[in-house]
Amino acid sequence: MIRVEGGHPLRGRVRAAGAKNAALPALLASLLTDQPVRLERIPRIADVETTIDLIHALGKRVDWKDGVAEVHGDGELWARAPRDPVQRMRASFIALGPLLARCGEAWMPLPGGCAIGPRPVDLHLYGLSRLGARIEFTDGLVYARARRLRGATVWLDYPSVGATEHLLLTGALAEGTTTIINPAREPEVVDLGRLLEQMGARVRWAADRVSIEGQPELGGACHDLLPDRIEAGTYLIAGVLTGGETTVTGVVPEHLQALVEKLKDAGASVELGEQEISARRGEALQAVDVTTWPYPGFPTDLQAPLMALLCCAEGESHVRETVFASRWGHVPPLQAMGASISIRDDTATIRGVKKLHGAEVVASDLRAGAALVLAALGAAGTTRIGGEEHLARGYESFLNKVTALGAKAWEET
Ligand code: EPZ
Repeated sequence: MIRVEGGHPLRGRVRAAGAKNAALPALLASLLTDQPVRLERIPRIADVETTIDLIHALGKRVDWKDGVAEVHGDGELWARAPRDPVQRMRASFIALGPLLARCGEAWMPLPGGCAIGPRPVDLHLYGLSRLGARIEFTDGLVYARARRLRGATVWLDYPSVGATEHLLLTGALAEGTTTIINPAREPEVVDLGRLLEQMGARVRWAADRVSIEGQPELGGACHDLLPDRIEAGTYLIAGVLTGGETTVTGVVPEHLQALVEKLKDAGASVELGEQEISARRGEALQAVDVTTWPYPGFPTDLQAPLMALLCCAEGESHVRETVFASRWGHVPPLQAMGASISIRDDTATIRGVKKLHGAEVVASDLRAGAALVLAALGAAGTTRIGGEEHLARGYESFLNKVTALGAKAWEET
């Protein structure tokens, strides 16, 4: 349980951790090689622990210390991924292709459902079959086999981040070139491409496609992960929402452009430096309209944190969520704190109120948890937030970082 006493402006500088959504695929890329893979700026979060548990279960050793993870092991890989951790974390599913490429066959549990809508993997499996995999389903498991994976052209109906990463990882060991048309181009996907190039694959981005030239074997790498744009965006919103001023450092400002524009539209004052961004509330916050969209559109992972800000913006905001079917877990608890929100189809309408008030609420997922902490920081009185384990999945030392900025927030046993 997290307890937050609202009404304290957040002020100060906070350094972004390495990106969760770059760390997970980068760690799983180590399955592709027998050489050591060293990854720097690995965030200390639960999803990284889960991924390392999986890599251990598949037969490799991971030394993880002071933000650096080194994956070693040139023995046989175990081709049967265990239900736990795969069903604990959907992102594990992209280990299927690498296991298939290395072992000729692989068993992977279908990923667990998630609080943000159905999470199918049809695009992943379609892509693997285009590379020559034969896919069967048995007892909640996907069984894939392929004597030799051959590069192919894969048209993605949707620029899925996971499916694009899965195909880049698998294409890196396929014979010839794999071309993905309509790929995701999130910075984390591009970062994975850079790691695979270091390991020996050739990755080429073009306007509507990305191609990867596979190699019979891949080498090791030493790779510095890019900063977490979602974590950084969360702290920028926190500064504006609480009427303080926060500066996130060690970031790539370009990766946060969509949020920066929205904060400016809402009346916040935002300054961009070389590797840092500062944000503070200007005059009264104004309502804005936002539509989540694949990169470089507004990131769905900042939809809930931004909504926490819009709850007290003057006027009526409209938030359209186009990436996930029902990413509204944060709405009922925000309503319990006094927010005026209604949802119709894929759009939430938020009528700004003067101030939210404290309440007892529960986070349904990672970004909903962040939104509730933000809302509590700006609310009158005390808020108690359950489901804090969701926060630990994706935010490194979240409470330490916000208290260092002046928040009054505690973990209650
Ligand atoms: C990644 O999830 C991120 N997770 C998510 O971050 C992020 O919200 C999402 O990309 C979108 O940017 C990681 O990188 C570990 P998708 P992923 O495949 O790969 C549909 C967070 O909070 N789809 O781009 O699962 C899917 O249902 C997390 O850090 C299919 O229909 O996202 C969804 O509606 C949450 N079939 C849409 O595409 C498929 O085979 C986007 O999903 C695959 C996806």
